[in-house]
Amino acid sequence: VHEGNGVKGLAEMNIKTLPDQYIQPLQERTVSMTTNNIVADEDESIPVIDMADWDHNPKVAESICDAAEKWGFFQIVNHSVPIQVLEDVKGATHRFFALKAEEKRQYSKEVSPTNNVRYGTSFSPQAENALEWKDYLSLFYVSDDEATASWPSVCKDQALEFMKKSEFVIKRLLEALMKRLNVKDMDETKELLLMGSKRINLNYYPICPNPELTVGVGRHSDVSTLTVLLQDDIGGLYVRKIADDSWIHVPPVAGSLVINIGDALQIMSNGRYKSIEHRRVTANGSKNRVSIPIFVNPRPSEVIGPLPEVIERGEKPVYRQVLYSDYVKYFFKKAHDGKDTVQFAK
Ligand code: SIN
Ligand code: FE2
Repeated sequence: VHEGNGVKGLAEMNIKTLPDQYIQPLQERTVSMTTNNIVADEDESIPVIDMADWDHNPKVAESICDAAEKWGFFQIVNHSVPIQVLEDVKGATHRFFALKAEEKRQYSKEVSPTNNVRYGTSFSPQAENALEWKDYLSLFYVSDDEATASWPSVCKDQALEFMKKSEFVIKRLLEALMKRLNVKDMDETKELLLMGSKRINLNYYPICPNPELTVGVGRHSDVSTLTVLLQDDIGGLYVRKIADDSWIHVPPVAGSLVINIGDALQIMSNGRYKSIEHRRVTANGSKNRVSIPIFVNPRPSEVIGPLPEVIERGEKPVYRQVLYSDYVKYFFKKAHDGKDTVQFAK
């Protein structure tokens, strides 16, 4: 039976219709999966930024900051993370979910020997009226030694390698974003504030009998500083467009990484960089899908608020100071509810 084997277990029972508890209210599922990824007007789609010329062309950093202000989302190519590393972590994700139910279950919240490893389904099942069609393995990074000791062996090397190889581009992105905010040095204090903790999720979205009735991930914004998302070639990620509130698709681009600004950076930038509402529609079709976000977060013990460098120019702070671990706790206590988490910092 599927008990303890998540939605993957359900999918493998060859059910013909979606169980009721996964049926989302109509307003949560009105965006259907479009196959039209071709957008005529480039200004109307999430930018794809080529980072190859970063060292010689200041326009690359400019376009990253522009995208963070205008869209809160962008894709990067030639980001320096080897394509093989991306392929390997996708493969490792499929391998983890292919384990027997009882092997995965030892990492479930109830029995996992460590809080840093958690296998689960949906987002916050105890708080949700309708469940999301998704299983996940969430790995909180403390140190290499801890990861080696406690992350599941079928995926730990690949997950760790993806995190390591992303470090360089994450720093570049943050340095550029900080420079526009007048923050000159990325010293150790700033690094702990912006990127002092990390979490990597291996998400698994099995084939669904009625994809039009449910969602993979409901509307939310991330609580991170920024998120580095590896998606596969199936698509389904929709992002709220600031200009007119419509939903637009983030088409899969081979070898790219999707970057989005999270709430912590929206708060620290006093609203200049936008943490945008997004959702993942459940795809039709015959393939099980994966996505792998790295959440780059403040250290849990940091107090976050509009940065002094931003405020000292006379801007009125839009957010208050909050303990980051309280902010995260508040996010995980409720179901996905769009942009509401940021109210906690008002
Ligand atoms: C998310 O958690 O925001 C979505 C991850 C994904 O795109 O699958
Ligand atoms: Fe997200």
